[in-house]
Amino acid sequence: MALLEIRNISRSFGAFTAVKDVSFDVSSGEFFTLLGPSGCGKTTILRMIAGFDLPDAGQILLDGRDLVATPAERRPIHTVFQSYALFPHLTVGQNVAFPLRMAGVNETELRRRVADTLEQVHLAELAEHYPHEISGGQKQRVALARGLVNRPRLLLLDEPLGALDLKLREEMQLELIKLQREVGVTFVFVTHAQPEALALSHRIAVMNQGRIEQLDEPSRLYSFPKNRFVADFIGNCNLLEAGVVEGQDGLLRLQAAGLGEILAPAREDVNVGDKGVLALRPEQVRIGAADALPPPFPKGGGGDFATPDDPGASENPPQPPFGKGGGNSFPGTVRDFLYVGDVTTYQVTLDNGQELAALRANDAPGRARFFEVGDRVTVSWAWDAGHFVRD
Ligand SMILES: Nc1ncnc2c1ncn2[C@@H]1O[C@H](COP(=O)(O)OP(=O)(O)OP(=O)(O)O)[C@@H](O)[C@H]1O
Ligand SMILES: [Mg+2]
Repeated sequence: MALLEIRNISRSFGAFTAVKDVSFDVSSGEFFTLLGPSGCGKTTILRMIAGFDLPDAGQILLDGRDLVATPAERRPIHTVFQSYALFPHLTVGQNVAFPLRMAGVNETELRRRVADTLEQVHLAELAEHYPHEISGGQKQRVALARGLVNRPRLLLLDEPLGALDLKLREEMQLELIKLQREVGVTFVFVTHAQPEALALSHRIAVMNQGRIEQLDEPSRLYSFPKNRFVADFIGNCNLLEAGVVEGQDGLLRLQAAGLGEILAPAREDVNVGDKGVLALRPEQVRIGAADALPPPFPKGGGGDFATPDDPGASENPPQPPFGKGGGNSFPGTVRDFLYVGDVTTYQVTLDNGQELAALRANDAPGRARFFEVGDRVTVSWAWDAGHFVRD
């Protein structure tokens, strides 16, 4: 049975609906994330789980029991906020001890549990310091320790790393994963930073305007976004306007704006006539010099039809789908590029006007980039590299 069950909850403020019919389950020991842009309803959901607010409709169950009648302080749930909310006049140790004092835990037990928890977050040597004497990352750890010391069933974390600089934030992400694994507490984590969600979570609910757009494992969200919003929100993505012309034998034939007919893998929920976009990650797009031979893909582009499971397939490629070449290969000109050290993203204007981003690893020793603005290039992608998503 799921530890936490959210069943069809909604919450409105006046005429504005902040949370619309949201349902999800969280398993014991899971690192579950609510991800979405500012204002999509993440904090509102956390507040209802914590008991600071009540849903207008729907149910919240913990271990199968409805929490509606249980006030916040009686729920075995703790919330860690972005602002840390430490008591400035209490030491680190006293801050961590606070929830235990409120619960009336005896002094011996209290000391032992505070010491254990400070050890877990690597703060034992700072127990006597005051909040103004420690760094932002350390404050964050005190807030975490205070959340964990009571051994809650569920720890709710609302943008807990938001106030940290990037380097520290990445360090704390690794620590958070380790800590969650070690203490085995179930986490419901809130963030609007998608790389953070991908790095930390077992599963992610992507939210938009009060609804869940898709709930999945990070790699599935990234590789198989369900709709345009998710494709666009998770990572960088080329979105090529397209309509479905034909679908058969595991293939979709799409009419793409400016590109003509292109191929993509079929998906269950798509029908002929559907409009949407082909979602194509820049790292799936090959870029090569226009006059380079051989072209990036055999048969003039569109496909070596090899799959990771079947590396030998390119030696004996299957018949081109629909009796035609794959054709996902187009000439263009480099309009711009973004060099970030390990990789360069090239913005290419195809000859038909379509813009496409292609990412290339700077894997040749001493090479910072391969192409200059104005260079003639060919971009191509395997027929199964993109995914059609409906609007
Ligand atoms: N008490 C309230 N009264 C009126 N409107 C509210 C109230 N609480 C939240 N809202 C509105 O509900 C929407 C969702 O707010 P919420 O705080 O849940 O967003 P969020 O996803 O946490 O955003 P952020 O990433 O910026 O923290 C927002 O438009 C917000 O203005
Ligand atoms: Mg919020």
